Amino acid sequence: MAMSKVLILPGDGIGQEIVQQAVRVLECLQKSGVALEMQHGLIGGAAYDEYKSPLPEQTLAMAREADAILLGAVGGPQYDQVARHLRPEQGLLDIRGQLNLFANLRPALLYTQLAQASSLKPELVADLDLLIVRELTGGIYFGQPRASETQDNVRRAYNTMVYDENEIRRIAHVAFQAARKRDLRLCSVDKANVLEVSLLWRQIMQEVHAEYTDVELSHMYVDNAAMQLIRAPKQFDVMVTSNLFGDILSDAAAMLTGSIGMLPSASLNEDHKGMYEPIHGSAPDIAGQDRANPLATILSVAMMLRYSLGHQDAADMIEQAVINTLQDGMRTQDIAHSDEAVIGTIQMGAAVIERLDKLLSQ
Ligand code: IPM
Ligand code: MG
Repeated sequence: MAMSKVLILPGDGIGQEIVQQAVRVLECLQKSGVALEMQHGLIGGAAYDEYKSPLPEQTLAMAREADAILLGAVGGPQYDQVARHLRPEQGLLDIRGQLNLFANLRPALLYTQLAQASSLKPELVADLDLLIVRELTGGIYFGQPRASETQDNVRRAYNTMVYDENEIRRIAHVAFQAARKRDLRLCSVDKANVLEVSLLWRQIMQEVHAEYTDVELSHMYVDNAAMQLIRAPKQFDVMVTSNLFGDILSDAAAMLTGSIGMLPSASLNEDHKGMYEPIHGSAPDIAGQDRANPLATILSVAMMLRYSLGHQDAADMIEQAVINTLQDGMRTQDIAHSDEAVIGTIQMGAAVIERLDKLLSQ
């Protein structure tokens, strides 16, 4: 099999620590014969510090060359005063846009072992398994015009929530196809009672549905969807929604699973090239203290192997190694309850690798 090129972009804050553990997982796979090579690059604040740009040209060039990208997190309070176009978050948005990574898959899975850690009652979340498909390169995040200005001594600012039918159609296809591999139920989330852009979203979802009549399509307003997610999350199989709504709903979904430190994500373009990242942020408050949960990043590596590198078996094994690790009672602080012993980032990484090694040598 051809050598796969993986670009590692740790970014800022806990990004460094969690990616380090995920890299150990990749090294472990290398040793057992998975043909991949890693390159490292700078993004976000780390890149700004070095090059005064959150997405330097050389990083983007490496990203274009790579088969897959593993990203940690970007951002930190030290960049709060930096101009918006140079902020760490802009580096992330730019790489998503430049590589056309329009399809963001955010699975929220409750590991039985973590039912206690969920913010909801165990019976509401037991066996929870939902997938949020978030449009990632359009909508209000990228819409023009946008500005912040002063007119007649009054400061104002605005953004534009805009989608064209092609952008909606392609994310619709991704979502319907995902539903086909799951429980054949797709819920499209919008605000069609208020927004024109949502009305178009809903129309296109209905049009594309004609090609997937085996999938049951429903629609929900985003405010109701937020409520339903915390009222009865198991009603959902696949949810598809726009960039901003997906950002918000996926954080909510994360807490259902016990911790935002557990959720991986994949961002794919038309050719299945992808960037893989935990959905959480750079958590500056705990950065550098060996306290962050590396599991979302490690699970992102599993998604990478599955979606971009064609190593289904290795992906399954990583996920199994994580389950075994949880089963054996290993807990970082975010997923531990009061009487459980807590381990750090490095130990958690080591625990997964130990179990992965075992699975690989079987
Ligand atoms: C996410 C993050 C990003 C987003 C930020 C860091 C720009 O919250 O991936 O969910 O809003 O998309
Ligand atoms: Mg977010």
